Amino acid sequence: MQQRQRLVLLIFSLFLVFQTSNGHNITRLLAKHPSLSTFNHYLTLTHLAPEINSRTTITVLALDNAAMSSLLSKSPSIYTMKNILSLHVLLDYFGAKKLHQITNGTALAATMFQATGVAPGASGFVNITDLKGGKVGFGAEDNGGSLDSLFVKSVEELPYNISVIQISKALPSAVAEAPTPGPSELNITGIMSAHGCKVFADTLLAHPEAMGTYEDNVNGGLTVFCPLDDAFKAFLPKFKNLTASGKESFLEFFGVPVYQSLSMLKSNNGLMNTLATDGASKFDFTVQNDGEDVTLKTKINTVKIIGTLLDEQPVAIYTIDKVLMPRELFKAAPTPAPAPAPVEAADAPKASKSKSKSKSSPDPASDSPADSPNPADQAADDNAGVSFKDGRSVAVGLSFLLVFLLL
Ligand SMILES: *[C@@H]1O[C@H](CO)[C@@H](O)[C@H](O)[C@H]1NC(C)=O
Ligand SMILES: *[C@@H]1O[C@H](CO)[C@@H](O)[C@H](O)[C@H]1NC(C)=O
Ligand SMILES: *[C@@H]1O[C@H](CO)[C@@H](O)[C@H](O)[C@H]1NC(C)=O
Ligand SMILES: *[C@@H]1O[C@H](CO)[C@@H](O)[C@H](O)[C@H]1NC(C)=O
Ligand SMILES: *[C@@H]1O[C@H](CO)[C@@H](O)[C@H](O)[C@H]1NC(C)=O
Ligand SMILES: *[C@@H]1O[C@H](CO)[C@@H](O)[C@H](O)[C@H]1NC(C)=O
Repeated sequence: MQQRQRLVLLIFSLFLVFQTSNGHNITRLLAKHPSLSTFNHYLTLTHLAPEINSRTTITVLALDNAAMSSLLSKSPSIYTMKNILSLHVLLDYFGAKKLHQITNGTALAATMFQATGVAPGASGFVNITDLKGGKVGFGAEDNGGSLDSLFVKSVEELPYNISVIQISKALPSAVAEAPTPGPSELNITGIMSAHGCKVFADTLLAHPEAMGTYEDNVNGGLTVFCPLDDAFKAFLPKFKNLTASGKESFLEFFGVPVYQSLSMLKSNNGLMNTLATDGASKFDFTVQNDGEDVTLKTKINTVKIIGTLLDEQPVAIYTIDKVLMPRELFKAAPTPAPAPAPVEAADAPKASKSKSKSKSSPDPASDSPADSPNPADQAADDNAGVSFKDGRSVAVGLSFLLVFLLL
């Protein structure tokens, strides 16, 4: 009797172990197809792979090695390649069946290129049209109506998370192929000024030492969390009260010396060093998911990431709703900061684990898929019969079989 219970427990834990390993991995999916290896390699180089892994209900239009060589023969920079390839990721699920049965024979699909905000106007959409003779044509919408990339075959389908289909050649798009400026030509204060962080950008420009620290990090990797104008304006009296070195550290506190995409932030929760971190002066904060949101917290207050102004490896700029206050410069008690009490409680246990995280390289391969949105269990049940490559469904079947044998 006891032995049986122990066995059931063992099987149950086995089931739990498999359950944690769901979610797709585009690198692994494509690795089974040597003819798509160059495409796969470039998804990694451009850091699109973790972005693809963090999304569901998407379609990747894959190119074989020959189509990739003709694309690469124009020697595009890696930033341009990222734009071109992100035009090949549709933000909707198109299995082979749905592609051949599009309502009214034609549809426009938004792409990851359009979602980055780099694509102006209607560019960044892909036109999918059912052509005569059962062919399916694809074209970038800014391409004068040409639909000469054709559906070749379905490569992988995990309904309705990700569909990978091969198309005959790269979607030509003047906008996506336009040379993208390298990071050193980026005007980060210009981008912030134009999108709601003007007060912070102006303050940074007025403090050349802090500004220099940001500029020094633009090429090697930089993530900026800029407080929106209303919040920063209201904070200025407190800022003006700081000493000169306090002001410099405070401004540098909103930059992190590594590139962090939003999906990396979601999966790399923990302590993060900043540009102001210097030996004993920690000037760090904790990144923590709060449902769909990502929050940053110190012992003084908690702020939320509101928007993305730029996410183009190696630089990311996000807006935050309030001014995050470093504990090195502000005291918890007299500030009117919202809800400091629960923050303190949650802060402590994270520390040791996250120390290494703050140093972690921006390598997308280290991203954990465990934090990706987890739809209802029902979806997993629906899929259980489809994917036997998925260890989970095998484990479920095995568990049931063994439980029956035991009873
Ligand atoms: C789709 O994604 C969800 C959540 O990551 C997962 O539970 C499910 O097993 C996936 N479905 C397939 C077919 O891979
Ligand atoms: C995806 O698969 C590749 C190749 O198997 C592996 O190196 C990488 O760590 C995986 N990524 C994730 C997020 O699991
Ligand atoms: C299909 O065409 C009909 C008639 O032109 C139109 O009313 C309908 O909105 C179209 N459906 C879609 C999904 O475009
Ligand atoms: C897609 O392109 C074709 C050919 O230019 C055009 O006839 C069709 O209306 C376009 N579809 C959509 C949804 O814009
Ligand atoms: C960056 O943008 C700001 C604000 O738009 C502008 O004042 C500044 O001249 C720009 N700097 C460069 C180097 O273009
Ligand atoms: C500035 O510092 C003075 C002296 O420490 C203090 O009385 C005052 O309240 C501070 N002002 C702000 C806005 O923090």
